[in-house]
Order: sequence, then C-alpha cells, then structure tokens
Amino acid sequence: MRLLVCGGAGFIGSNFVRLRLAGGDEITVLDKLTYAGRRENLEDLDVRLVVGGIEDPGAVADALEGCDAIVNFAAETHVDRSIAEPDAFVTTHALGTYTLLEAARERSLRYVQVSTDEVYGSIETGSFTEESPLQPSSPYSATKAGADLLVASYHHTFGLEALICRGSNNYGPYQYPEKLIPLMVLNAMHGDKLPVYGDGMQVRNWIYVEDFGRGIGTVLERGEPGEVYNVGGPDEAPNLEVVTKIIEYTGADDSLIEYVTDRPGHDRRYSLGSEKVRALGWEAQVRFSAGLERTVDWYRENRAWWEPIRSGDYRAYYERQYGRALG
Ligand code: NAD
Ligand code: DAU
Repeated sequence: MRLLVCGGAGFIGSNFVRLRLAGGDEITVLDKLTYAGRRENLEDLDVRLVVGGIEDPGAVADALEGCDAIVNFAAETHVDRSIAEPDAFVTTHALGTYTLLEAARERSLRYVQVSTDEVYGSIETGSFTEESPLQPSSPYSATKAGADLLVASYHHTFGLEALICRGSNNYGPYQYPEKLIPLMVLNAMHGDKLPVYGDGMQVRNWIYVEDFGRGIGTVLERGEPGEVYNVGGPDEAPNLEVVTKIIEYTGADDSLIEYVTDRPGHDRRYSLGSEKVRALGWEAQVRFSAGLERTVDWYRENRAWWEPIRSGDYRAYYERQYGRALG
C-alpha cells in the first residue's frame, strides 16, 4: 500500500512505520515534530517526511501526493499536559482531524483513526466493548472522543471509508519519557525518585507497541468501514506492580518509590475487550513481563536516543510537573 502516516515520527507511529516498511508498503510521514515527534525515530528508515501540522490543508495536500490511504496517529498524547495546557489538544484533535477527513473525502481515500481506550472513561470491573458509551474524563480523552465522533460522522454522512481503532496503554521502544514506563525506567537507571500518583493502585491494560501496530494493520486491511475496533493488551497491572517490576529489572532500590499528589480526575482502571479485532485474525503476541524486560533492555542499550531528551527541555517540564529537578 502507499500510506500516509500522520504523526509517524512519534512513539507508536514510528514503530508502525517500521512494521509496515518490512511488509513492503511505501510510506509518507506527515508530522509537526512537536517535542514528542523526532526525526531520530525515523533515521534508519526509507520514508518521505513532510514536516507540517495535520490542521494545515497545504501540508496535508503535499503529503498526500501518491498515497491511497491515511492512518492518523497525530495527536497530543499526555494526559498531564492536557490538564496543564489543553489548547494544542483541541486544535490537533478537532481541527486537525477535520482537515484530514476533508482531504480523504475529496480523494475518496480509506482512513484509519488511531484512538484510545480513554474515550470510554474508567471501568471498575469487566471490559469495554465497542458499544460502550463514551465518557471521557480529561481534556486529552474528551478531544480524542470528539475526533472519533467526527470520523464516524464522515462515514455516516459522506460514505467515507473510515475506521476507528482504539488501543490500550502502549509500551516499548521510542516512547517519550513523560509516560509511566520510560519515565520510571530512566529514573531507576539514574537513581532518581520514582513518583507514584496517589495510592499507585490504578490499573492499566498494557499492550506491546508492535502488537498494537499489527492490530492497526489488521483494521486497515480487513476492517469494515464505519466500524470501531478495540485493540487491548493481554495483561493488566496496577501501577505499583509495574514500578516494582522495573525496580527488579533495573536493579534499583525500593526506597526510590515516592508517593506524590494524584492526577486530578485520574481514571482508576481501563480494560478493553478485543473480540471484534480477534475475529479479523489478530492476536496479541507479547505478554507484559517479557515485553517490559525487552523495553528496559532497549532503554539500556539506546542511551544516544534518550540522552538529548533527558538533558534538554524535558528537564524544565519535569520540574514543573513534579516540583523537583532530575538528578
Ligand atoms: P506521541 O506523543 O509519541 O506522538 C505523537 C506524534 O504526533 C508526534 O510525532 C507529534 O510530533 C505528532 N503531532 C502532534 N500534533 C501534530 C499535528 N498537529 N500535526 C502533525 N503531527 C502532530 O504519541 P503516541 O503515544 O505515539 O500516540 C499516537 C496515537 O496513538 C495518538 O493518537 C494517541 O492518542 C493514540 N494512542 C496512544 C496510546 C499510548 O499508550 N501511547 C494508546 C492508545 C492510543
Ligand atoms: O490508555 C491509553 C492511553 O495511555 C493513551 O491514550 C495516552 O496517550 C497515554 O499517555 C496513556 O495514558 P495514561 O494516563 O494511562 O498513561 P501515563 O503513562 O501518563 O500514566 C499511566 C499510569 O501511571 C496512570 O495511572 C498515571 C500513573 N503515573 C504516571 C506518571 C507519568 C504515575 O503514577 N506517575 C507518573 O509519573
């Protein structure tokens, strides 16, 4: 396929690009290169990179030259940042998604929107299905839910071949260290405190990034237009258990754990039922313990990737967010 991958210089997008190139696709990436999008993530790959926002119709038209489908990963993705500064979340998720949908409609292109389990809100027991109501909690998840509704409307109203793929918490190589797992891995490696929000008993449903990429590929190739597909990981764990495993795999000390003020509006538990995408032939391949060990090894072996981040603007972000400097 000739794919336009929006947000392909970020964590999941760049892992997806790697998978799809190995499968023979031709790829153009459209990415604004925000703090989370990095040329380094695509350095070793044969892709055309167009630097621009998905909300810019000129950049979208340029990037779409010669493409026959769009997969949209482009987003602001950190819940804590959406609480501190929601503006960019609204622009990218609302105006950006609208601009891409218009471009897809003009050219009759197949369109996959990459979305999240957070649009369903929190669930105490059991799992969300694709029919569960949308009850987002944060500016991040509310604007992602808005984008999903707009995508669905373009199928319903204009017959656009649009599909939505909702993933659970991803982890793996190239994830920016504001997110729980890479943050804890790098802090543990440096002997910095490990900041656990609230009581640390919030539960996430973890999926290895390549499993999610394969799920999105399945939906792109075999999904039914107008449908939503959940792609959840095989294991769930409370945050404290995740941090304890990271301490074990890095050889750090338990005393680094520090309980800090909880995130406002913090969702207690996410869980996705993935029967619908399984019926298309997808299955998760990586269990959490094995994937986490692989991820810790990747960060250990790829110092050149994270060193410029950890010594750059990220330090100021960290100090604002946690009220203490990195060591
Ligand atoms: P990320 O923050 O690592 O990457 C986002 C990418 O989008 C970056 O390359 C950034 O430069 C780019 N971008 C941001 N605004 C843009 C704009 N206006 N125009 C063009 N590019 C822009 O995020 P990620 O974790 O890789 O998430 C990718 C997608 O997957 C998002 O849509 C997110 O909502 C969804 N998702 C993430 C997870 C997760 O656990 N990380 C789980 C489920 C779904
Ligand atoms: O569920 C999918 C979502 O997962 C994606 O849509 C989001 O883009 C992605 O950021 C992620 O959201 P979370 O809020 O679940 O991920 P985060 O890594 O920020 O936090 C995971 C859990 O760990 C959450 O309960 C908050 C907690 N946490 C996080 C950080 C950064 C801590 O206890 N301490 C921390 O320092």
